[in-house]
Amino acid sequence: MTETTTPATTAATAEAAPGTPAPLLSVRDLTMTFPGRRSATGRRGAPVRAVDGVSFDLAAGRTLGLVGESGCGKSTTGRMIVRLLQPTSGRVVLDGEDISRLSQGALRPLRGSIQMVFQDPHSSLNPRQTVARIISEPLLVQGRSAGDARRRAAELMELVGLIPEHIDRYPHEFSGGQAQRIGIARALATGPRLIVADEPVSALDVSVQAQIVNLMERLRAELGLAYVFIAHDLSVVKRVSDRVAVMYLGRIVEIGDKAALYANPQHPYTRALLSAVPLPDPAAERRRERIVLLGDPPSPAAPPPGCTFHPRCPKAQEICRTERPLLRLAASREVACHFPGD
Ligand SMILES: Nc1ncnc2c1ncn2[C@@H]1O[C@H](COP(=O)(O)OP(=O)(O)O)[C@@H](O)[C@H]1O
Ligand code: SF4
Ligand SMILES: [Mg+2]
Repeated sequence: MTETTTPATTAATAEAAPGTPAPLLSVRDLTMTFPGRRSATGRRGAPVRAVDGVSFDLAAGRTLGLVGESGCGKSTTGRMIVRLLQPTSGRVVLDGEDISRLSQGALRPLRGSIQMVFQDPHSSLNPRQTVARIISEPLLVQGRSAGDARRRAAELMELVGLIPEHIDRYPHEFSGGQAQRIGIARALATGPRLIVADEPVSALDVSVQAQIVNLMERLRAELGLAYVFIAHDLSVVKRVSDRVAVMYLGRIVEIGDKAALYANPQHPYTRALLSAVPLPDPAAERRRERIVLLGDPPSPAAPPPGCTFHPRCPKAQEICRTERPLLRLAASREVACHFPGD
C-alpha cells in the first residue's frame, strides 16, 4: 500500500494578507531529523524525524501553548526556535528575519531578544555560581559593567518575587519554585521579546506550579513578552495560552484559539488529552467521558503509514491507514484528521 496525502492549503502556511501586522515569530515547515542511534553492534538505526513540518505564527505579547505526550518533539521544536539546534529544514522568522541559517556570529546580536526557560530549574543553573553571577552573565556578555550588571540582577530578582538580599546565595539554597524564578530572571536579563518556556512547571510541586504560571502571566502583561509555553498536558497551558497547538509524533495535529479548542476539540487526540484534565465541578467530573489511549506513541524512527495516530485512534477507518491527513480548517481552527469533530 502506498501512502498518499490529501492536498490542502492551511491558514498556518498561507501568506498573511496585505496590511496584517507581521507576527513576531513565524515558524514554517520546521523539520528536525536526527541520525539513528548506534546499536551495540555499531549499526546505525533509522533516522528519527523528531519534528516534521511544524508551522505557526505568534504575535508580540501573546502565548502559544505547545502540548503533547513525552517524545512528540516539543523540546526539539523549542530548541530550534532559540537556535540551540539548527533545523534540518524549514524557517524560523523573527521580526521578519529568517534566523534558521544564521551563523553563531550573525546570531549574537539577536540572542538577547529570544531566550529559553528550562524544565528542571536546579539542573539548568550552575551550582557553583551565585545568583548574582547567573543572572548577570548575559549582561556581562553584552558588555555591561560588573556593577551595572549586579544592580540589574538585584532589580530582576525583585521583579520575579525573590529577595534581592539573597543575591550572593547559591542555587541549592533555594527551593524548586525559587530556582525557577532565578531561571526566569536570567531569561529576562537581556530584555527579550520572546521566551520559549520548555515545561517550566513540570518539575515543580503542584502547589508551586500555579505561582510560577501566575508570575509568568504577570511578566507577560507587564513586559509585553510573547511565550511559546510547552507542557505535556492541556491543563497547564489553559490559563496562559491565547492559542494552543497539539503535537503528535513530530507534527501539529490541531491548532487554534484556546476557547474554541477547549470547548470543542476536533482531533481525537486532543479529545483524549482533554478528557484527562480534571474538571473543577465534582458532578461534571463524575459524568464526563474519559478517553483512555491504548499503548504508547509509536517511535518517530518508524512512524505508522497514513495518519500516524491511527493505531491508537478510536475513530480510525480504512482511509486513515493509507492517507495522511494534512492540517485543514475545521470549526474555526486547523485540524489534521479525516473525520474531525464528534
Ligand atoms: N539528540 C537526539 N538524537 C536522537 N534523537 C533525539 C535527540 N533528541 C531528541 N530525540 C528524539 O526525538 C523525539 C522528540 O524528542 P523531544 O523533542 O525531546 O520530545 P518532547 O520534548 O516532546 O518530549 C524523541 O523520540 C527523542 O527520543
Ligand atoms: S485521521 Fe483517522 S486515525 Fe487519524 S485521528 Fe482522524 S479519525 Fe483518527
Ligand atoms: Mg521535552
